Formats: sequence, C-alpha cells, structure tokens
Amino acid sequence: MAAAVVEGCDGDARDGREVSDTRIMAAGAAGVAAVVGLWRAGGVAAFPTETVYGLGADARREEAVRKIYEAKGRPPGNPVIVHVGDPGEAKLCAERWTALAEKLSDAFWPGPLTMILARGASITPLVSAGRETVALRCPRHPAALELLRAFGGPIAAPSANRSGFTSPTSAAHVLAELAGRIPLILDGGSSEIGLESTVVDISGDLPTVLRPGAVTLEMLRAAVGEVRVVDSTLQVTDVAESPGQHSRHYAPRTPAYRFTVAEWPQVKMWADLHAPVALLCHDDSIHLAAPSETMCMSADAGRYAQTFYAALREADGKNLAAILVQMPKDHGGLWAAIVDRIRRATEPFVVIMEAQR
Ligand code: TXA
Ligand code: MG
Repeated sequence: MAAAVVEGCDGDARDGREVSDTRIMAAGAAGVAAVVGLWRAGGVAAFPTETVYGLGADARREEAVRKIYEAKGRPPGNPVIVHVGDPGEAKLCAERWTALAEKLSDAFWPGPLTMILARGASITPLVSAGRETVALRCPRHPAALELLRAFGGPIAAPSANRSGFTSPTSAAHVLAELAGRIPLILDGGSSEIGLESTVVDISGDLPTVLRPGAVTLEMLRAAVGEVRVVDSTLQVTDVAESPGQHSRHYAPRTPAYRFTVAEWPQVKMWADLHAPVALLCHDDSIHLAAPSETMCMSADAGRYAQTFYAALREADGKNLAAILVQMPKDHGGLWAAIVDRIRRATEPFVVIMEAQR
C-alpha cells in the first residue's frame, strides 16, 4: 500500500502532503519548528543530513528513543548515533572529552565523522544498547544544524530505513521505508555524500575505524597519526564490535551479487541465462543487452557514493531475478567506503557458482 503511494512520489515529494499519516515538509522555518516540536514532545521525526537521512528523537529520553527502535524494527542490541549542533553539546554527552576528541572534532566537525567515547550520564543507556560508550556526530547539512541548534539538545538518530535495508538519501526514500510508521519527514533534498558517516572508536588506546566513510583513513591518519581499521567483511555469525559491521546489512530485497572485472565473462554467461537482471557497473567494457538493465555508475568515487543507494533502490524496485554489482578496482580513499557498502549489500558472485556445482 505504501509502495504504491511512493511510486507516484518520484523523489519529488510535495510540501505538506500527507501519506499514510506521514507528512513531508520542506526544510524551511515551518518544517524546522514542526520537527523540533515533535522532538520536544518525545516523538520521532526524520531529517536530512549530508550522509543519509536520519530518524531522530531526544537522546536523553528512553521512551523517545524506544520509538526509533520500534519504527525501524531495529534489534535492541544495535546502538544509535547521537547528533549534536556543536562540540560544546558533544562534551555534555561524553563522560570524558579527550584530547583526541578535541583534535578530531576540530578537524572534521561539522561533517561525516562519528566518534565513540565513554557515555555521559545525560544520555539514556538505550541509545548505546547497554554499552558504556556513546557514538557522537555533528552533521554539516544546514537543515540538520538548524534543527539541532533550535532543539538545543542531543538527538539520537540512526539512518531512517527499516532495519537491515538500504539507507535513504532522499525524503522519498524515507517515505518508502517508513510511511505510516513516523509522523514527519523534513525534506532537505538529495544527500550530498550518500553513504553513512565514518565511525571511529576513540574510547580505547588506539583510534579504530569501525565503519569507513567520507572522512577517509588517509584523512584520519593525516590528522591524528596511527589509526587501526576493523575488517569490514565479518560474517553475520561473528561477534562484531559495532553491530552495523555485520556483513549483510544495508541490503536490497532482491538477491544481490558482486563481481570483479576478471569474473565478468562468467557473470555475463550466468546473467544471460537468468535474464532479466539489473547490472550496476562503472566500466565501459561491461554491459548486458535487453531485457536486462544496465545501470551505469560514475567512475568518480564522490559521484558513485552519492548515487549508490538510489541506484540499488531503483534496481530493487524493478523486481528482477538478481542485482549484479561490479566491484571497483581502486580500494583507497572514498572507494574504501564504497567497497564496504557493496560488500554489505551483496554476496560474492562465486556463491552462486558454488551453489550450482
Ligand atoms: O551518517 C550517519 O552516521 C547516519 C546519519 C543519520 O547521521 N546515521 C547512521 O546511523 O548511519 P546507524 O544507526 O544506521 O549506524 C550507526 C552505526 C552502527 O554501525 C552502530 O552499530 C554504530 O554506529 N554505533 C553506534 N553507537 C555505537 C557504540 N556505542 N559502539 C559501537 N558502535 C556504535
Ligand atoms: Mg543504518
């Protein structure tokens, strides 16, 4: 039912329109006031950030944060990021504000960096799903900053999608995921970055990247020296330090597989046998004939990141037999985050071949 409504929406949701009790408002004064009003009343509302859209509620109130988990169908063990309007507000959310936190916030806030620190007493433990730590981020989207500063307190906000599925990069995507489950979406246009923030744990001795993002490993090392990275290809059964690290996450509903250029001849044969399928590639030499759909991605990492989730969503909406995603050759800089999200959204193509053996 919600899906049918969204189809007509076409990424261009109109201001004030109500769909299944979920209202979309433009990111102006009235919209900001409406979101802040809901947050003050202990409710939830979705809002734009430069990475992906978030579903926010007051991080100090357990009953407000519980509504986020309910709307998303999020497992209670998966902690949520707390958003703040400035570093001063962040200090109130952490038990200790360290020299490293100061350095990183100076270098990358407002922006797509989330830092994990010891949790302060004002934050409800539900935000951290029982952990002693809290994830803090100051986003740079102007509407997000305006909301957070007008609210004047910490806002817990995971990505505004049903748990385990693709993060939303537009108000229409949020509607497709959460229509009828949340009262309001603030429409701030398409997300500038398109992938979730970099998550770095600075609660221990050595800064550790738990999730790669637009603040790259190279950028972090240039700012603070030694930085460790957690392998993002953990299997679902592994115990992950950060639950979003489970290898199947951010996934479309259609079976999705990734492949390297070297595997293409085999992939093409399989695709021709199982057509129509959707192909996401960024290499001119790779193409499938109709009835399969070839979706050309950019070879530029910034543009690729911006459009990846929207492309996955579009491919998913076609209800084809499979989605096939070409892996980038380059794994450095922002490509590391793209490779990580492709891995979480897909299984390796060899899995199909092994199953058929
Ligand atoms: O870009 C973003 O970070 C977006 C926007 C809305 O800001 N938010 C987002 O939130 O992606 P979410 O909840 O979908 O992802 C949060 C990630 C998860 O992998 C979660 O496990 C991890 O951060 N996380 C949160 N608190 C943590 C903690 N205390 N310790 C370890 N990991 C934590
Ligand atoms: Mg998420």
